[in-house]
Amino acid sequence: MDKTQCDTSVKDLLEKASQTGDLSREEIVALLSVTNKKDFARILATADEVRKAYCGDDVHVRALIEFSNICIRNCKYCGLRRDNHKVRRYRMPISEIIDTSIECATMGFGTVVLQSGEDPWFTAERMAHVIREIKRYTNCAVTLCIGEMTYEEYRTMRQAGADRYLLRHETATPELYAQLHPDMVFENRLRCLRDLRALGYQIGAGSMVGLPGQTVADMADDVVFIKTLDPDMVGIGPFIPHPNTPLGDNPAGTLDMTLKMVALTRILTRNALIPATTAVGSISPYGREKALMAGANVVMVNCTPPRHRVNYEIYPGKQNLQAESSDIFAEIGAWIESIGRKVGSGPGHSLKLNPQCH
Ligand code: 5AD
Ligand code: SF4
Repeated sequence: MDKTQCDTSVKDLLEKASQTGDLSREEIVALLSVTNKKDFARILATADEVRKAYCGDDVHVRALIEFSNICIRNCKYCGLRRDNHKVRRYRMPISEIIDTSIECATMGFGTVVLQSGEDPWFTAERMAHVIREIKRYTNCAVTLCIGEMTYEEYRTMRQAGADRYLLRHETATPELYAQLHPDMVFENRLRCLRDLRALGYQIGAGSMVGLPGQTVADMADDVVFIKTLDPDMVGIGPFIPHPNTPLGDNPAGTLDMTLKMVALTRILTRNALIPATTAVGSISPYGREKALMAGANVVMVNCTPPRHRVNYEIYPGKQNLQAESSDIFAEIGAWIESIGRKVGSGPGHSLKLNPQCH
């Protein structure tokens, strides 16, 4: 194809995608393969339009509390994997998790995200206690990001008041999933996502971009997977090599591919909550801002007590949005307004449950 034809076809594809919310796998591959500046900018601009039309200008701000870095899993990409003996492991006491959550609510956060490795000490019953206490003292929504559990365990935590659950599918290519997760099976990941949805959680899926061995077709399958699952939230970030893992010598995912993945996810899901991830902010100085202008509408502020935060090293060079002071909300607000957006108020629940009209 000459340049003009190529221009037209990308433009047509994007028009079709924003009108119908649908693209074939091959069309997604074509868009992910775009490298010329003009078409790349078109993809991002279309996503920004879709975001504005279906989600408005609100950026929802979440407080992230990384309460334990102990993990029984051995994911090949992750710095917290059990075989990495160089990590200083910590487990926050229950009282500290509750107190930190209450502080976050006082600062103005409407959601606390409780994240950890798969730490068996934190049973569903212990988590249920934490959730009930947070719900007793705050109006915050509670999002869990603590890995694979049974239906009954998810039910215990849901009954205690948990609202949302993040469980990235990581990659929708079963062979790649198997290579990366020696002790996990893709089918169980799907079972978890299905159980969580059946229990009434708002669910979050998502994947990494630029994993070793991952092709553009694999990434297109991630977008198709997301489109089919239609989760409330989707986290997409670049793979970043961690030196103390088996994948430490591989290159990181690129900013451009990550932005294209975020943009296509926005165009096809329309109103999913999509964070500008810490990982995209870590591979490029303005990565997070760029993601917010390519379809993202959520940011997470790291509210883990600083002495622990340094030890939650999923990948190196993590550029957190930090909560050092109590006026963090004012700072984040100013930053969000500087890119022409506004801070969402309240818990910022799924737009799929209660679609906003714009
Ligand atoms: N690079 C980028 N993202 C990573 N995650 C784990 N390890 C890495 C890495 N090396 C992501 C996974 C996980 C989330 C909590 O962090 O997608 O689900
Ligand atoms: Fe554990 Fe999650 Fe890291 Fe896997 S990605 S090793 S489950 S913390």
